[in-house]
Amino acid sequence: MSNQLLPQLRQSVKSILMSAGFDFRMKTDDRRVLEDTILPAIARTPEYRRILFIGCDWYTRGYQKLFAERDYWTMEIDPAKSKYGARQHIMDSAENIAQHFQPDSLDFIVCNGVIGWGLDDKPGIERMLEACWTCLREKGVILIGWNDVPERTPVPLSDLATLKKFQPYVFPAIGKTELLTNSDLRHTYNFYVK
Ligand SMILES: C[S@@+](CC[C@H](N)C(=O)[O-])C[C@H]1O[C@@H](n2cnc3c(N)ncnc32)[C@H](O)[C@@H]1O
Repeated sequence: MSNQLLPQLRQSVKSILMSAGFDFRMKTDDRRVLEDTILPAIARTPEYRRILFIGCDWYTRGYQKLFAERDYWTMEIDPAKSKYGARQHIMDSAENIAQHFQPDSLDFIVCNGVIGWGLDDKPGIERMLEACWTCLREKGVILIGWNDVPERTPVPLSDLATLKKFQPYVFPAIGKTELLTNSDLRHTYNFYVK
């Protein structure tokens, strides 16, 4: 079999197994913290009813189940990844959140691995954060997951003017506003409240 066919075959096998209910979640430390601590804490907090998760891939597909009782939305710029999105999925850039949600209508936004992984220019990041500010309700929370290494940090968070509108937020399940995980790319979680 040619080397070009192998990834396709692997993807097809994975798709079949996933539709049969197999769990393909990644188990790096940052993913463990996200899946075992952060997402369950969001899902069990009654005031977080409408949740937006930005950026989808095969390993995020199962998150819909966790938020089955919630008004859970996903958003992803790549049309090919729509299949990993939630039942309520938006195919668009996160810069355009405000075109899809009313002001003050979201309770929680998870923006994990998007800055530095496609959304890389400062004006674009500021546009996304401004849209998040508009669409989050008062006391709504945004989680920014990012990699604290130069090649994945297009702009330090401290240089983002729009982020200064938010307050750092002590996320109760973590007990901190910021958590650096034990991962090669120094995956870091920062919580902010409107
Ligand atoms: C490293 S993956 C992260 C996926 C997921 N959020 C997670 O928790 O791992 C980055 C994803 O962000 C998407 N992405 C990049 N720029 C985006 C943008 N402007 N709006 C929405 N999604 C974007 C990419 O297409 C890719 O699927």
